[in-house]
Amino acid sequence: MTEPGVALGAAVDPAEVAPATAGQPGRPLVLLLSGPNLNLLGDRQPEVYGSATLEDHVAAATEAAASAGLAVEHVQSNHEGVLIDAVHGARGRCAAIVINPGAFTHYAWGLHDALAAFDGPVVEVHLSNPDAREPWRRTSVVSPVATGTIAGLGGHGYVLAIAAVARLLA
Ligand code: DQA
Repeated sequence: MTEPGVALGAAVDPAEVAPATAGQPGRPLVLLLSGPNLNLLGDRQPEVYGSATLEDHVAAATEAAASAGLAVEHVQSNHEGVLIDAVHGARGRCAAIVINPGAFTHYAWGLHDALAAFDGPVVEVHLSNPDAREPWRRTSVVSPVATGTIAGLGGHGYVLAIAAVARLLA
């Protein structure tokens, strides 16, 4: 089964998850989740989100993770249920989650509940600084279940998030 929107980077079908260390023995796995519209990065409002594509960010996170002895699995979806399934699939399998929930940040309580049931560090990343934008972006339903949040630092936020995860898992 191929879910629409789950197609970028090292994307996986959450229903067919591989063992945590498949192909990379001993490397804890970090699930990198990307929410709606992030598949359009590079094209979408570059004045807000920059010119790098999602593939660029995934590659930077994967490289940072490799240097820290971690592996990355990436899932992007425009559908909340696909992200929830990916979080469920990470339970007991992935050591940590790094998530840019996109606009789901601001209202996706189902995603909040799924993350609350994940037993490991969760780092929330935003390319822009939602607190400095429209008032409706100032609420995050993900922050209450995140270990920490990195916002407003562009693509460097992904590298910082991986560094944070490496420190939290050490
Ligand atoms: C975003 C911020 C959200 O408010 C927005 O809906 C996005 C991207 C960011 O990375 O800055 O899609 O998560």
